[in-house]
Amino acid sequence: MLVLGIETSCDDTAAALYDSGRGLLSHSLFSQIDTHHEYGGIVPELAARDHVRKLLPLVREVLSRSGAETEDLEAVAYTAGPGLVGALLVGAALSHGLAVARGIPALGVHHMEGHLLAPMLEDERPAFPFLALLVSGGHTMTVEVAGPGRYRLLGQTLDDAVGEAFDKTAKLLGLGYPGGPAIAAAAARGDPERFYFPRPMTGRPGLDFSFSGLKTAVLQTVRGQALNDVTVFDIARAFQDAAVETLVIKCRRALQQTGLRRLVVAGGVGANLDLRARLADLAQIQDSKVYFPRSEFCTDNGAMIAYTGWMRARNGGGVPAGGFRVRPRWLLTELEPPA
Ligand code: KG4
Ligand code: ZN
Repeated sequence: MLVLGIETSCDDTAAALYDSGRGLLSHSLFSQIDTHHEYGGIVPELAARDHVRKLLPLVREVLSRSGAETEDLEAVAYTAGPGLVGALLVGAALSHGLAVARGIPALGVHHMEGHLLAPMLEDERPAFPFLALLVSGGHTMTVEVAGPGRYRLLGQTLDDAVGEAFDKTAKLLGLGYPGGPAIAAAAARGDPERFYFPRPMTGRPGLDFSFSGLKTAVLQTVRGQALNDVTVFDIARAFQDAAVETLVIKCRRALQQTGLRRLVVAGGVGANLDLRARLADLAQIQDSKVYFPRSEFCTDNGAMIAYTGWMRARNGGGVPAGGFRVRPRWLLTELEPPA
């Protein structure tokens, strides 16, 4: 089965072709960083307009790079939510248009299920059941995954997502947008001993997270300093250490509580090398195994959407093309197992 995957939930326009027999055939992404950079964050209306400009050329590109035609497609999968409504509508409209024209199903995929299943695109895939740490710009949660569509939420953030904390801290430090990679690069040059920030909600039992206090702690420190480069590096280092250690503590707790021995890490913050190294250490200590998608499939991409669409369509799931809706808010736990 040949599935086209389309991702337009936020500020990346992405497309990919997944074949159930041959695996991932091609994927391509257009980042809108330059469009939003001067605003220090994503401007939803500009994001939607940019998706309109870039999506069709990207679809043509992934088709031609694998020598395929639209006639060869057997399903189109697109991100139906959660995300920015205008941005989501661009991907949904193009997908349904293509699906109606070709007489094939269109599948509205849950963006976080896409992230969760991204490690399935790698050679070494996790078997079910596993624990998932989902860490992106909009979500921070631990999920017990019994199988596709069988998700039990163990813990989530009560306020900011961890990626959001990276982005806001970067803004405070004048490091610009997107914050995650900028903080990571600055932290690599910072002194780990100079500042210390709290590890929120680790002193009491439970698997929930809270990152708004950490951001406030950074703000208070920034206010008391002359922000030269060295201080920026040192604060970035202390922030990253606090965020990463908090995630590691909660993963350790979740592995112990559930007895699971496989940990999957997904979402944009999963691209953080320090987090990856610390979780690899944890897995070794806990006699567990940790699975990461390659970094480019941690952040938003079309491949995870194409794969998830195939997973949901392979036994005849999916809806006929035509009337559709997007879901800016959509809980992962509302999903049912595939048909
Ligand atoms: O999954 P994603 O691409 O989009 C959402 O679904 O939100 O995640 C984006 C988030 C942003 O907050 C970005 O700053 C963060 O992931 N991020 C990182 C890194 N790369 C991206 N955070 C920490 N370290 C990184 N290397
Ligand atoms: Zn995402």
